[in-house]
Amino acid sequence: MTPERGVAAAIVVVLYVLLCAATLRGRSKRARASVIESATENGAPAMLVAYASQTGYAEHLARQTAHALERAGVTTRLAALSDLDARELRDTHTALFVVSTYGEGDPPDSALRFVRRTMHDAMDLAHLRYGILALGDRTYANFCGFGRALDAWLNACSAQPLFERVEVDGDDEHALNRWRALVAQTTQVADLSDWQQQPFKPWRLVARQCLNPDGAGRPCWHLELEPSPGEGLPTWQAGDLVQLIVPVDRQRPREYSISSLPADGRIHLLVRHELRADGTPGLASDWLVQGVALGDSVELRVRTNSNFHLGTNATRPLILIGNGTGLAGLRALLKARVSSGERRNWLIYGERNAAHDFYYREEIETWIAQGMLEHADLVFSRDGVQTRYVQDRLREAAAKVHEWLHAGAAVYVCGSLKGMAAGVDAALTEIVGAEMMERLRDEGRYRRDVY
Ligand SMILES: Cc1cc2nc3c(=O)[nH]c(=O)nc-3n(C[C@H](O)[C@H](O)[C@H](O)COP(=O)(O)OP(=O)(O)OC[C@H]3O[C@@H](n4cnc5c(N)ncnc54)[C@H](O)[C@@H]3O)c2cc1C
Ligand SMILES: Cc1cc2nc3c(=O)[nH]c(=O)nc-3n(C[C@H](O)[C@H](O)[C@H](O)COP(=O)(O)O)c2cc1C
Repeated sequence: MTPERGVAAAIVVVLYVLLCAATLRGRSKRARASVIESATENGAPAMLVAYASQTGYAEHLARQTAHALERAGVTTRLAALSDLDARELRDTHTALFVVSTYGEGDPPDSALRFVRRTMHDAMDLAHLRYGILALGDRTYANFCGFGRALDAWLNACSAQPLFERVEVDGDDEHALNRWRALVAQTTQVADLSDWQQQPFKPWRLVARQCLNPDGAGRPCWHLELEPSPGEGLPTWQAGDLVQLIVPVDRQRPREYSISSLPADGRIHLLVRHELRADGTPGLASDWLVQGVALGDSVELRVRTNSNFHLGTNATRPLILIGNGTGLAGLRALLKARVSSGERRNWLIYGERNAAHDFYYREEIETWIAQGMLEHADLVFSRDGVQTRYVQDRLREAAAKVHEWLHAGAAVYVCGSLKGMAAGVDAALTEIVGAEMMERLRDEGRYRRDVY
């Protein structure tokens, strides 16, 4: 764990203890508001809808909530938690927070600034009434850890809950309906029912190829999917994900980074055939790589992952770091850079053996030859005498990292959270210092799609 995340985790634990204490003291003394205020005197919007999201779901639900309220005539202001500060909270009377949990009970990356700058201390928020929609996944030890910590902090600041925190496991419709009903009730809006989740649609699997048939690691497969006949191609951006349903586990859709652009006409995925600790294959990956037949249908929807879009970094130099199937997200970003003619790209990618695991080799070599990839550091951990990873390469290239970052580069990291992203975070912090890392985060120049 990085020092940054260590501090965040410590704050989360302390706040969770505070929450338990507050709950034991009893919440009955708090008045339950049934009506929100009208616009404040200075003309500020009546209701703040704030989100903290890693892969876009909390942001999506916050938008849905805000749009539904707007449609019902309630003035709202939608904001990322990272854009809020103490002053703004002091000026806000009613707020809805939609927040996910990441890592091991940690805040999403984008909330670290708020945790660091605002949640580190109690403040007087007795005037604030709030509701929390906490997103999480019960397969993690610290379910909804950040939502609970935020609730604890708001409690400690004497803010008043409009209703009990709503916790959502995955995309549990039941819990989401409860949130809709509670928001409608407290805002005295008759109906928020026109808020719809984007439906899953049938796509056809049209191509599939194992990219490392003789590799030492688990097989990695390239998949291509097309919309069913009569269905148009939806639009998406580099960085976006798909969610897909596995027939044997319809309750828990799986997410995969899209590795193509709409201009390719198809959704490309890079899927690792997962093996669980008990030796049985992962359900979704097993079905995708050998269960579903070519031409068969896969229920899928695109999920925006704005945190990993190029966005304001579109014309900055880009350092793209990843391992394994993380190449999927990096490939989409590189394709976008190539199509917009942005040449200052540095890829640092790790796998096991060059002979087997150099996925999309031709494409990458073409980009190098065309000058679209200024540097490509391919770190094959098992090819040398010593095991080497992308974080080791970063340390060796410390001078170049400095040079690129001081030239305004942004860093995109895609792949495994524990095995790679934590090591990359530590190496970058070592190279440029905690202050620069903070600046990169604050300026949206450090983006991660890691799992
Ligand atoms: C934002 C994001 C992007 C991703 N992008 C990609 C990508 O581009 N490519 C890619 O290959 N993967 C990607 N993943 C991972 C992917 O979503 C799946 O988690 C992965 O394919 C494994 O799913 P599975 O159904 O095959 O395995 P599962 O059956 O879900 O098992 C995986 C692990 O979950 C645990 N587990 C869950 N249920 C059980 C159970 N009933 N019994 C025992 N153990 C269980 C085990 O620890 C097991 O090792 C991404 C994930 C996220 C969150
Ligand atoms: C790498 C990773 C770590 C996660 N850690 C936790 C966790 O510790 N506790 C939890 O309840 N949920 C955890 N989750 C689940 C997310 O909170 C959940 O999927 C949520 O819906 C994601 O919302 P977002 O897309 O807005 O970030 C984790 C998800 C990922 C991908």
